[in-house]
Amino acid sequence: MLNTTFLNKQFKNPIVLASGILGVTGAGLANIIKIGAGGVTTKSISLEPREGHKNPVMMGNDHFFLNAVGLSNPGIENALPEIAKLRSLTDAPIIGSIFAGTAEEFGVVAEKICTGPIDFLEVDISCPNVGAEFGRPFAYSTEAVETITKIVKTKSTVPVIMKLSPNAWNIAEIAKAAESAGADAITAINTAAGMMIDIESRQPVLSNKVGGVSGPALFPIALKCVYDIYKAVKIPIIGTGGITTGRDGIAMIMAGATLLGVGSAMYYNKGTCFSKITAEMEEFMKAENITSLEEIRGTAH
Ligand SMILES: Cc1cc2nc3c(=O)[nH]c(=O)nc-3n(C[C@H](O)[C@H](O)[C@H](O)COP(=O)(O)O)c2cc1C
Repeated sequence: MLNTTFLNKQFKNPIVLASGILGVTGAGLANIIKIGAGGVTTKSISLEPREGHKNPVMMGNDHFFLNAVGLSNPGIENALPEIAKLRSLTDAPIIGSIFAGTAEEFGVVAEKICTGPIDFLEVDISCPNVGAEFGRPFAYSTEAVETITKIVKTKSTVPVIMKLSPNAWNIAEIAKAAESAGADAITAINTAAGMMIDIESRQPVLSNKVGGVSGPALFPIALKCVYDIYKAVKIPIIGTGGITTGRDGIAMIMAGATLLGVGSAMYYNKGTCFSKITAEMEEFMKAENITSLEEIRGTAH
């Protein structure tokens, strides 16, 4: 019922673990498939290892999470054996996520990660919490998105997915730029820029001061981004942001998503969030006599 074809690959269900929630450890990512996800995305991997920001890097409540982890990762050379391990433990689709500071470096990391057994390459050009180091995210500019998409496409041996930011005022145009530069799919969205202030200490909660908002509060923002992008492009979309229930997932499909990225829901229901969302989606579909997600994809338009 939830079987989904995305860029010619079969997913047992449309839920994929979003990037960054569980690092790059092969055994940990394989377990995500065991507990119900249809596919997994690695943490964004850079050319060199990165420590990320100082603590505190994260806070959360019932409504949202705010993080500025700062793209900590072991670097591509150390990540590749973990991706190989992941492949040995599961047949489910693997999305390798990469991050870089320049267009050229994106090309280098893309080429390196494609030596590993990934099925798709997701290009993180939209992290909102490394601005002090790298400046504005590339995802705010159609020109930068075009340049990076073209470079990554020449180096990648697997389909390329560009991950966009809700902070771009014209996300549909950005998606169009990615599509015209050769992107095979879009992930929408990364976290939205935000901050929290501890009123007793009168200081920002995170050491980085600002971070990215994820979780339920992001859902209506993500839904509109996917809705707008679906109108603008023909390539498929991984709808990501604030999905915690089956109803959220169904709404995201109705906005036009093909796959559903789920991240922060894990912080609320670690072991059960994927099986809960898929069970709730199936329950709704049965009640409404819907036999496949194709029937409802984009129906909100
Ligand atoms: C702690 C944390 C780390 C993240 N790291 C990454 C990352 O490395 N690369 C990336 O593209 N997105 C990263 N994200 C963004 C998520 O992949 C996702 O786009 C976002 O959290 C919205 O989905 P959610 O509300 O289901 O969490 C991170 C999110 C969180 C909460």
